[in-house]
Amino acid sequence: MSKLNDILACPRCGTALQALHCNGCQIDYPTHDGVPWLVADPPGIRSEWRNRWQAALADLESRQKAARDALDRTSSTAATERLSSLADGYTHQHHALRSLLSSLGLARPADLETYLALKTRLPSQMGLTSYQANVFRDWCWGDTESSASHDTISNLLAPMPPESMVVLGAGAGRLAYDLHQSLGPDLSVSLEINPYLTMLLKRLAGGDNVDLTEFPLAPSSGARSAIRRTLSAPAVAAEGFEVILADAMRPPFLPASFDVVITPWLVDVIDAEPRELLAEINQLLKPGGHWIYHGSVGFTRAQVAENINLEELLEMAADRGFTDISSTERASPYLDCPDSRHGRIESIVTMMAKKVEEAVPASRHQNLPDWIAKGRAPVPALASFRSQAMVTRIHALIMSLIDGKRTLKDMAEVMEAQQLMPKDEAESAIRGFLIKMLDEARSGRAL
Ligand SMILES: C[S@@+](CC[C@H](N)C(=O)[O-])C[C@H]1O[C@@H](n2cnc3c(N)ncnc32)[C@H](O)[C@@H]1O
Repeated sequence: MSKLNDILACPRCGTALQALHCNGCQIDYPTHDGVPWLVADPPGIRSEWRNRWQAALADLESRQKAARDALDRTSSTAATERLSSLADGYTHQHHALRSLLSSLGLARPADLETYLALKTRLPSQMGLTSYQANVFRDWCWGDTESSASHDTISNLLAPMPPESMVVLGAGAGRLAYDLHQSLGPDLSVSLEINPYLTMLLKRLAGGDNVDLTEFPLAPSSGARSAIRRTLSAPAVAAEGFEVILADAMRPPFLPASFDVVITPWLVDVIDAEPRELLAEINQLLKPGGHWIYHGSVGFTRAQVAENINLEELLEMAADRGFTDISSTERASPYLDCPDSRHGRIESIVTMMAKKVEEAVPASRHQNLPDWIAKGRAPVPALASFRSQAMVTRIHALIMSLIDGKRTLKDMAEVMEAQQLMPKDEAESAIRGFLIKMLDEARSGRAL
């Protein structure tokens, strides 16, 4: 940990940390299960993840009940095989997930809906187990995919082996681990925002085995609907391998800390502007250090202008202080679970660029005000909060009018009677709102 300690900086103000303590902000950053949590607001992020963890547990419980109920009703042999595999799998995964994250501390469970309503600060689509397939690919069946990624990157780095590197958005961490084992730098940091992934990696890299259940997307048979897997690393990670929980957009390091920054499968999924991410990467690199991107370039942002392609990304890198920019591309299987009928071929881009100039990152996000961070001062009645409260009240009213009997017209009449909107306008507004709700329900985004 000492090499890591030498380069750690406060994710709030950038001051060098002393044993995870910031003298500027007077804050001690916590450690959970040996993983330092170096985020600007550790209690806030912890409670967010705890909510998502409990939502994931509640979801597994309700799936398990649904599978058992369906099992009681079916007389089909094939359905029985599938449903009993699922019911057992959900039960096992519930136990495993509960014990893996137990250091987060379970609060008194609330309804699933309460957790859904309150998830706010992390990107809302990022669930605790969103990257579940990556976990099994990394530590169970995916050696071919993992070796291909490792070989591509280690070939690039072979002529200039790094002394220090960081992998941002490392996921379940196999690439960071493999590169550390083969290149032998003094320090490799695996940085990830999801505690399920950091806790798993910490245990696996330390030599533990972990039992989890995989639910393939399109199981190859009923019995393979839920598969008990034992995850393990080939060996205990060599000295200098560190796992931290942090936000790649507020990396907790002093400037110029690394020879190499790797961002596998991150630029298009991170909830940030690529040019801002590039500036953060630039700041982390020593002069002459290298950034390596490996993964897809498939932006699917709401704003058309933000859906940049590879050529734009290359241009942006040049604009952010990088030179000698090269890229290659190969079509390869991706998350190709052997027990699933579903698999993808992705065109995987590998891009390398050398830092030649400084790029200035956007100013740090402001510290959270005391009324949020400490919770003792009154919450200010901001105009934006008041209008949000009105919006929420109207949404709540619409949802409360759904009783299985009223039509859209009936609901619009209530809106008019409550002097919220003329009924003709209300009808189309309610229709638009319910289309959105239906879309969310169908896409599963609610979880
Ligand atoms: C598509 S996955 C790729 C994971 C891994 N690099 C791999 O190749 O398997 C993107 C990862 O980035 C992480 N991530 C997203 N936003 C992040 C952020 N702001 N800071 C750190 N990690 C982030 C996600 O939790 C997820 O593990």
